[in-house]
Amino acid sequence: YQRDRSSLLAAHELTAKLYHHLLNNTEFGIEAKDYLRSRGLTDKLIDHFMIGYAPERWDTLTNFLSRREYDLELMERGGLLLPKNDGSGHVDRFRGRIMFPLWDREGKVIGFAGRLMGEGQPKYLNSPETILFNKSKSLYHFHHARQEIKKSGKLVLFEGYMDVIKAWDAGVRNGVATMGTSLTEEHVEIIRRAAQEVVVCYDGDKAGQAAALKTIPMLEKAGLKTSVAVLPQGLDPDDYIKDKGPEAFIREVMSQPVSPLKFRLIYSRKSHTMVEEEGRKNYVIEAVRLIAQHDSAIEREFYLKELSLEFDISLDTLKQNCHQVREQMQKNKSNGDNNAFSWNNGMNEKRR
Ligand code: GTP
Ligand code: MN
Ligand code: MN
Ligand code: MN
Ligand code: MN
Repeated sequence: YQRDRSSLLAAHELTAKLYHHLLNNTEFGIEAKDYLRSRGLTDKLIDHFMIGYAPERWDTLTNFLSRREYDLELMERGGLLLPKNDGSGHVDRFRGRIMFPLWDREGKVIGFAGRLMGEGQPKYLNSPETILFNKSKSLYHFHHARQEIKKSGKLVLFEGYMDVIKAWDAGVRNGVATMGTSLTEEHVEIIRRAAQEVVVCYDGDKAGQAAALKTIPMLEKAGLKTSVAVLPQGLDPDDYIKDKGPEAFIREVMSQPVSPLKFRLIYSRKSHTMVEEEGRKNYVIEAVRLIAQHDSAIEREFYLKELSLEFDISLDTLKQNCHQVREQMQKNKSNGDNNAFSWNNGMNEKRR
């Protein structure tokens, strides 16, 4: 087992170098290099993140590894190669894709994510689960972010590889991302051991916001101080930096994180038609319910006051309503029904 591991680790390291070389120094990489430039990636970034290119051929890596006398069966189990359909030999798993090496906490390459340049499925092809790579325990770029995380006590959680890369370039040196999965309890444990505070900076689309709603309580439950850096509708950090520049990203997004409660209020607001009286009323009712979840009386009053001013409803009325909701929550709790008023109740939360 140890021999397999070290052989696979060596193969991954070499493979990352091969793809990086093909991107930088050969004609196979020309189109890919143009693509990366169009996405705002400089040579310096491409080098730091060891980005590469896997040519649109079946045998680039297979020949490379076989010439170096690697056990191709092991390389197949390690996710680098695929068996040929007729069972005779192997072909490359990654073809015609921009290659992002994935590292473990020590900075060893343990897998890859390969992105198509154009449209097509899957957009990102990841290494499968292997003896090296376990995606539910891996955080992209953690080995480099670690230093700044330790220093500041703070970690920034992004959704995608590109977000980590572009944010790194903008000066966010404590950013990591999950690798094509939602956050797991294992991730939370790794984060908890490294940081006291997390800023969630997910995509400003429906999927990203819904993912943030699931992620936040997991982090809070682990005792991590949690806040949310909110992006404008439809943009992810990588788009934002491309459109508005790195300084604006730091100033407008990273420097203005909101509390989880504020984020829930912003999210709830988006699902109501605020130009209609009915929508506004329903929003106020839902907002009070969200505010009522919070144990801090100061926070409750703070947000109730905001509502009161904005919708011209007396603070007394809102407080009274909030109090009723809390009493109902207490009753449900003592009946053993813990989830009856959990703030994301009814949002089809899927529990693993
Ligand atoms: P770009 O389009 O290259 O900017 O990527 P993105 O990071 O913005 O992608 P997106 O917001 O669609 O997805 C966020 C993350 O989910 C990606 O970075 C991947 O980790 C993962 N992901 C997206 N699409 C796929 C896919 O088709 N397969 C897998 N396994 N993961 C994906
Ligand atoms: Mn290089
Ligand atoms: Mn997205
Ligand atoms: Mn995205
Ligand atoms: Mn993106």
